[in-house]
Amino acid sequence: MSYSKHFDIQAGNYDEAGKAASEIKRILKGNHFSKDLIKRVSVASYEAEINIVIHSKGGYADFLLLDDMVLLQFIDFGPGIENIELAMTEGFSTASDLSRLNGFGAGMGLNNIKKSSDEMSIISDPNGTVLKLKFNIFGEDNHESIESN
Ligand SMILES: Nc1ncnc2c1ncn2[C@@H]1O[C@H](COP(=O)(O)OP(=O)(O)OP(=O)(O)O)[C@@H](O)[C@H]1O
Ligand SMILES: [Mg+2]
Repeated sequence: MSYSKHFDIQAGNYDEAGKAASEIKRILKGNHFSKDLIKRVSVASYEAEINIVIHSKGGYADFLLLDDMVLLQFIDFGPGIENIELAMTEGFSTASDLSRLNGFGAGMGLNNIKKSSDEMSIISDPNGTVLKLKFNIFGEDNHESIESN
């Protein structure tokens, strides 16, 4: 069995921010997966989607549900992450005042994505960022606890 879905993500649209992640959560809830898996995928999806909304020129997400794994990719059209190691540092944020007013900008998102997923890769240049995530459906419950904003 496999199921896939594509989501467009608009830059700067705070009203719609989080919609793709909610839809992904809804799909998983309809498939009786473990609470742990649903939480991990939801947290990572939400953080990755918000990053596209608040830091990029817009992009999209592709969700792929396979028999034993969930694969996600979040792709945007720039301006890219200048220093990925720095961006991964807890508390580092270049979030604008507007996005901070909307509750974002703690500098925790990428960290939470890393803790939530089983595999994570980021490639970035000024033309865009590609974030790929893998979640094992039948993994053990041994993930670090996830802090949320
Ligand atoms: N898609 C992206 N495009 C460009 N820069 C990004 C992108 N995602 C993350 N970044 C950069 O990496 C930094 C850290 O991202 P992270 O998600 O950890 O924190 P944040 O988004 O600033 O705050 P929080 O996620 O806690 O609301 C961001 O402030 C931004 O500089
Ligand atoms: Mg973030």
